[in-house]
Amino acid sequence: MRPEEKLIQNHELTRMEYRELFDKVGDKETTERLAEEAVRLRKRYYGTKVYTRGLIEFTNYCKNNCYYCGIRGGNKNAIRYRLTKKEILDCCENGYELGFRTFVLQGGEDPYFTDDRMVEIIQEIKKQYPDCALTLSIGEKSYESYRRYREAGADRYLLRHETASDAHYRMLHPENMSLANRKQCLYDLKSLGYQVGAGFMVGSPGQTNADLAEDMIFLKELEPQMVGIGPFIPHHDTRFASEPAGSVEKTLFLLSVIRILLPKVLLPATTALGTMDPQGREKGLAAGANVVMPNLSPVKNRKQYELYDNKICTGEEAAECRGCLSKRVASVGYQLVNERGDAAEYIRCFRRKPDCQSVPDH
Ligand code: 5AD
Ligand code: FES
Repeated sequence: MRPEEKLIQNHELTRMEYRELFDKVGDKETTERLAEEAVRLRKRYYGTKVYTRGLIEFTNYCKNNCYYCGIRGGNKNAIRYRLTKKEILDCCENGYELGFRTFVLQGGEDPYFTDDRMVEIIQEIKKQYPDCALTLSIGEKSYESYRRYREAGADRYLLRHETASDAHYRMLHPENMSLANRKQCLYDLKSLGYQVGAGFMVGSPGQTNADLAEDMIFLKELEPQMVGIGPFIPHHDTRFASEPAGSVEKTLFLLSVIRILLPKVLLPATTALGTMDPQGREKGLAAGANVVMPNLSPVKNRKQYELYDNKICTGEEAAECRGCLSKRVASVGYQLVNERGDAAEYIRCFRRKPDCQSVPDH
């Protein structure tokens, strides 16, 4: 049987079969078959709803030095910022008014934000917005730290595993980081009752189809509630500056595969995908994605959270992204909804170009 048919039937494959399947990236018939099935499954569980999560990038200080990342600690050229508690709460207020009911606090591994400071921020957000879900995305911490955040009210945690292959992990990270610890963090988070998000970059330097097969096997075992994937995009101040970016086509193929692997998973059409292709996020939805994560960070800091070059949406106010995305999502036949699945009220696009969804220039 063809590997795609076997995946559709069994919702998983062996390492060998995944490799066979990934050798078919670029094959039109296989891609269409996978996308058709992915969309069928997504429709069965989620209809045409697309979930929104408001992303607040609250610090770009980072003690880590992942080789691919523009805000790695070793990058002396990065202009660093951290938001105050008040600024973070202002982002939430703005987001709430725009209809967001999930806030994602994302940042580098910044020692300034001690557990005490994080707990204070988490408690304040949950106090002011008890009807909202709070997601953290602040990297590798101890079980005890994760426990404290959870107790303070954090509901979800995003921590991409980045690659499930040891050898590949070594190519992307310095000696003091390990895949074993990263996986342990994800299992700790699960055992504490967080809804977790894992994920990886597509086409990161050195990534093979065998590595991607490991990613699929790990995801099936972990069973995360969310899987974030996007193309690798080189950043000019990293050792990978002149490496090629990951392909949109392969990312879309993998989105369909992951939807079939974990039918109910939340699957974002990522900013990186939108950066590589002006219609990337719309194409992501058509491949099986069902989440978008507009940026709620203050415009003055947007450009500074530069994980990779040419990141989109860095000049836009939150309302502009919200409006733009709701038009984009509608243009391919879906509706943006808030946390509960209610259609969030339509918010007009504040972009100067009145028909920004038909002028995909950002
Ligand atoms: N290209 C694409 N994605 C990147 N990330 C970090 N650097 C890059 C890059 N150069 C992703 C990582 C990280 C997430 C927040 O952003 O997967 O987990
Ligand atoms: Fe940010 Fe289009 S989604 S401006």
